[in-house]
Amino acid sequence: MGMGFMQRLVIIVIGSLLCVTGTSLGLKHNYGDALTKSILFFEGQRSGKLPPTQRMTWRKDSGLQDGFQVNHTLFPAFPQVDLVGGYYDAGDNIKFNFPMAFSTTMLAWSVIEFGKFMGPDLDHAVDAIGWATDYFLKATSVPGFVFAEVGDPIFDHNCWERPEDMDQPRIGFAVSKDHPGSEVSAEIAAALAASSIVFDFADKYRGSYSGSLGSMVCPFYCDFGGYQDELVWGAAWLLKATKLPYYENYIDQNIQNVKNIGEFGWDSKDAGINVLLSEVKHIKSSYSMSFMASADKFVCAVLPESPSVSVSYSKGGLLFKPGGSNMQHATATSFLLLVHASHLYKAKRRLHCGANFFAYPSRLRKLAKSQVDYILGSNPLNMSYMVGYGPKFPLRIHHRASSLPSLVNYRSQVHCKEGSTYFESQNPNPNLLVGAVVGGPDINDSYEDSRADFVHSEPTTYINAPLVGVLAHFNIHHHK
Ligand SMILES: *[C@@H]1O[C@H](CO)[C@@H](O)[C@H](O)[C@H]1NC(C)=O
Ligand SMILES: *[C@@H]1O[C@H](CO)[C@@H](O)[C@H](O)[C@H]1NC(C)=O
Ligand SMILES: *[C@@H]1O[C@H](CO)[C@@H](O)[C@H](O)[C@H]1NC(C)=O
Repeated sequence: MGMGFMQRLVIIVIGSLLCVTGTSLGLKHNYGDALTKSILFFEGQRSGKLPPTQRMTWRKDSGLQDGFQVNHTLFPAFPQVDLVGGYYDAGDNIKFNFPMAFSTTMLAWSVIEFGKFMGPDLDHAVDAIGWATDYFLKATSVPGFVFAEVGDPIFDHNCWERPEDMDQPRIGFAVSKDHPGSEVSAEIAAALAASSIVFDFADKYRGSYSGSLGSMVCPFYCDFGGYQDELVWGAAWLLKATKLPYYENYIDQNIQNVKNIGEFGWDSKDAGINVLLSEVKHIKSSYSMSFMASADKFVCAVLPESPSVSVSYSKGGLLFKPGGSNMQHATATSFLLLVHASHLYKAKRRLHCGANFFAYPSRLRKLAKSQVDYILGSNPLNMSYMVGYGPKFPLRIHHRASSLPSLVNYRSQVHCKEGSTYFESQNPNPNLLVGAVVGGPDINDSYEDSRADFVHSEPTTYINAPLVGVLAHFNIHHHK
């Protein structure tokens, strides 16, 4: 006997009630709101003359003389250059062009893959990219030089002051033929993608900027992973942008130098190269399969139930990798998981990790979703790690501009050391850096919310940049 109409109706009604209850028991996240905020954050990091469209209005113009001063001891006969603009990449007031360029590349990749899910936020994401590329065009405007940094990090880190108040020299540091800097140059090329001039520059004068600029970039953004990965990453983006066989040949000749296939972040681009190249249309298909295989290996090292897993997870489910600012790993890895899931899906493939383990693309998306949900508050502390999202979020982030009063409320200059009282105060930061995602909890899912604890409480552009794409995906695909 089949079921009667009423019986079926009752089952359907109860089924949908269960569904509703099921989602409301777990935290339901507003990915659209988080997406808007994740992009807004970049306005809080802006350096230079702010436009009338600036929405984060507690920030004001800063660094308006950047690059005008030249250290002639380091660069004799060097012209001054306009380096106004760009981003402060974390909680300090230095412009480090290497991580800034990586963040820009990831914002661009976010738009390329997920821009169609961004709705009205797409324009803001494009603005956020333009704010960086305008600056990179300046940073590459002097033939023979690529600017790698503005400001002296030792001086800067010794002060706790608003970017609007800086009065120390804002010298630009450039890499050149004699002081090479392939990684920063190639990452700028990746960020600009269409600029083969910059790329040629990086390749022609091979050498690491850590060696050339030494204490100015290390230990802050010392390139530990080497520059080979940035050269291939730059070439991969240029191949995608230009389709020129030149870049395919270049990749072919240099890919053997890309060995850390488990790594992806501002320092190492290796896993990103493999994921990106596994679907570049105009690359030889046999060749693209080997990128796909390396990208598979990356994912196999990340899936918690995979036999070759090599990352750790907290009890609450957050991915952990060695090194500071852990949340950058959670967001960058989630980004690659989503992109690789769609490659697998399009290729009608499952992921194989060894002979006895496989996973469907939906599993990769589910893992990415678990990371985003953790960040937004589905964690043992019920705490969102994005400032201004949800009822409970970090209040004392390690960020100079956020922790000091805004110029709007306090017009007198706060000198270098005068900010210390604000740094040491237990009060919440007066300015909400809305959308900033901090370094995050420790491996035991606890979080101190202390300004001094910069490893956990500092936001960075390279935590947010990949998250923008991930949030755009879940903005439309809420459940998968
Ligand atoms: C210029 O560079 C030299 C050599 O590194 C350094 O000793 C000097 O302090 C720098 N000057 C400024 C104003 O930064
Ligand atoms: C988090 O929320 C859950 C569910 O509402 C609650 O049971 C738990 O006690 C909360 N934990 C903390 C640390 O607030
Ligand atoms: C995490 O907890 C374990 C066990 O209680 C402890 O040994 C370890 O030091 C803790 N780690 C951190 C980073 O707090």
